[in-house]
Amino acid sequence: MTLLVTGGAGFIGSNFVRYLLETSEDRIVNLDLLTYAGNLANLTGCDQDPRYRFVRGDIRDRETLRRAFAEHEIEAVVHFAAESHVDRSVEGPEVFVTTNVLGTEILLEEARAAGVERFLMVSTDEVYGSLGDEGLFTESSPLAPNSPYAASKASADLLCRAFYKTYGFPVLITRCSNNYGAYQFPEKLIPLMIANALEDKPLPVYGDGRNVRDWLYVRDHCSALDAVLRRGRPGEVYNIGGCNEMANLELVRLLVDHLGKSRDLITFVSDRPGHDRRYAIDATKIMSELDWAPSVTFEQGLGATVDWYLQHRSWWEEIRSGEYTAYYEQMYGQGGRHGKDGVNP
Ligand code: NAD
Ligand code: TYD
Repeated sequence: MTLLVTGGAGFIGSNFVRYLLETSEDRIVNLDLLTYAGNLANLTGCDQDPRYRFVRGDIRDRETLRRAFAEHEIEAVVHFAAESHVDRSVEGPEVFVTTNVLGTEILLEEARAAGVERFLMVSTDEVYGSLGDEGLFTESSPLAPNSPYAASKASADLLCRAFYKTYGFPVLITRCSNNYGAYQFPEKLIPLMIANALEDKPLPVYGDGRNVRDWLYVRDHCSALDAVLRRGRPGEVYNIGGCNEMANLELVRLLVDHLGKSRDLITFVSDRPGHDRRYAIDATKIMSELDWAPSVTFEQGLGATVDWYLQHRSWWEEIRSGEYTAYYEQMYGQGGRHGKDGVNP
């Protein structure tokens, strides 16, 4: 099969490209705009494989998409490309709408026109909003997104549903919980905390640190996507999660201890506006219908992740030396949203 992977130079997309090259015979065309989050260094070695092609392009650009679909005779699409960071969506929602909503709509139209046989939309559990202390998100939980990021993903997710209902276009939708692993951009919780701890910088925990996330190792997300792509039923939604709930503060303490650093680095900072309290996934459907299960425990996955960041210091140091510095200052510096005098609406 020939696949178009969008956003394959980002965190999960690059892990997925590697996963497919290792486990399948598929040909892969990776279409990525290379925004701040896209990094060809995430794909080092893939270009040695004749089954892999990279196209720099924007999912909002019809001409580029038409050319890619025609030239490479694409049979299936796995759609990762997105603006993905909640904090950035709080600062500037517009690009989340143009990329995540409009971009997905244009991609759907062009994929349909090209006769694509399967279209996998990589959505997120954040479309469901926030849970209280009890309960889990199921595929039939109502959509109630709380951040501009989550609202843009929910819109894209619903457009995919509409393309299935209206045109019978064979869309599959996955909603996964928080991922962690190699190549995650160091603005997200786990790599940010590892990098800051290694540099003995403060570890900024939002609010009271008791927000709960349900963590899944990225390779296990990739195997779940692979299962849905090959064996999922068009028009269906599949939740993906690892039954791994943890409060942020507990997770940060675990990382600090693992790295042999002082817990005094942990610093409570102003909360994220609209901060979802708890995510937790019921993944019964994918586990029973598609026979999928995570392959590693949280301890194994986190250990492997910490090792990866220790062994790939130049990868994240390079990122943190560029425009990231301005981002970090804006978010965490004095007077920044999550700085000591940050805005706490
Ligand atoms: P990421 O930010 O690391 O990567 C996004 C990629 O998309 C980058 O390579 C970027 O260059 C590319 N991109 C952005 N705008 C583009 C455009 N207009 N055209 C083409 N390419 C563009 O994100 P990620 O964490 O790898 O997430 C990938 C997908 O998975 C996203 O759709 C996200 O919503 C979803 N998701 C992420 C998580 C998570 O924990 N990270 C969990 C569930 C779902
Ligand atoms: P994040 O990695 O941004 O993922 P998401 O918001 O999509 O769940 O954040 C994970 C959790 O960690 C979330 O509850 C916010 C919190 N967090 C901090 O406490 N400090 C930080 O510096 C960051 C980036 C996140």
